[in-house]
Amino acid sequence: MDRFPAEFEDLLTAAGRRLLAGTSPLCGALAEPRRRFLAETGLVSERAARAAARLLDRALYELMEPLEHRIPAETIWEMTRNYGELLPKTARVRTAYLERRRERAYRCAEEIGMTAMLRSPSFAAFAAALAGRALRQRWGIQLLCYGPGDYAGPHNDHHPEEPAARRGYLDLHVSLSGRGVAHQWLVYAVQGHFSRIVDVATTGGITAYRLPIWHYTTPLVAHDGARAETARRWVLLGTFLYRQPPVFTTVNDSKA
Ligand SMILES: [Fe+2]
Repeated sequence: MDRFPAEFEDLLTAAGRRLLAGTSPLCGALAEPRRRFLAETGLVSERAARAAARLLDRALYELMEPLEHRIPAETIWEMTRNYGELLPKTARVRTAYLERRRERAYRCAEEIGMTAMLRSPSFAAFAAALAGRALRQRWGIQLLCYGPGDYAGPHNDHHPEEPAARRGYLDLHVSLSGRGVAHQWLVYAVQGHFSRIVDVATTGGITAYRLPIWHYTTPLVAHDGARAETARRWVLLGTFLYRQPPVFTTVNDSKA
């Protein structure tokens, strides 16, 4: 693969296309009041996903920028009460700023067709089908790359300062793991406990979040061997606002 297809639909399997056609049992899955998260494989072609991961390895890896938020030392040394610890959002991952036109990563993402595919109508239609709700016509896109030891600490992705997002929004992630990845997990909260865990070291797996919801991503672990250093999990992201702001429900009601 030298380029991404023009439409996200072209990466889909027959099961993935059924979602677009409105005939999949997953249609509207995230509209169920108690379901805030889903992880599915078999919707995106694994073969196409593997080719896409290799294309990103070749074309974009060198242009990705490190994003690091460490645990601040004060969170321990300036604590004054036992059990009073508070952890801000922590992460280590690489990202491409796809909104900044001057960045080389922006131009490269355009050249290989990734931007166009993430902006394609079928990508939004796929998200809308899972959401079971109408989405706004403009959406955010992002590219992440997790290497060995990269992770995202517990956070909830709530944006109370943004009127359009403060009552919730939808994130759609497509995982493109290379062969060197042994495991990476996504842990999310149900009824106030970090009690659910799903494998995200997939090649073509979809995760969709009806945010906000507490979650974290465990450090990527590579298989031993010569390829350990280059083990990577790419994530294609879309962030979608709802056309009508939803009635805000509590964050602890997921059953998924
Ligand atoms: Fe998140």
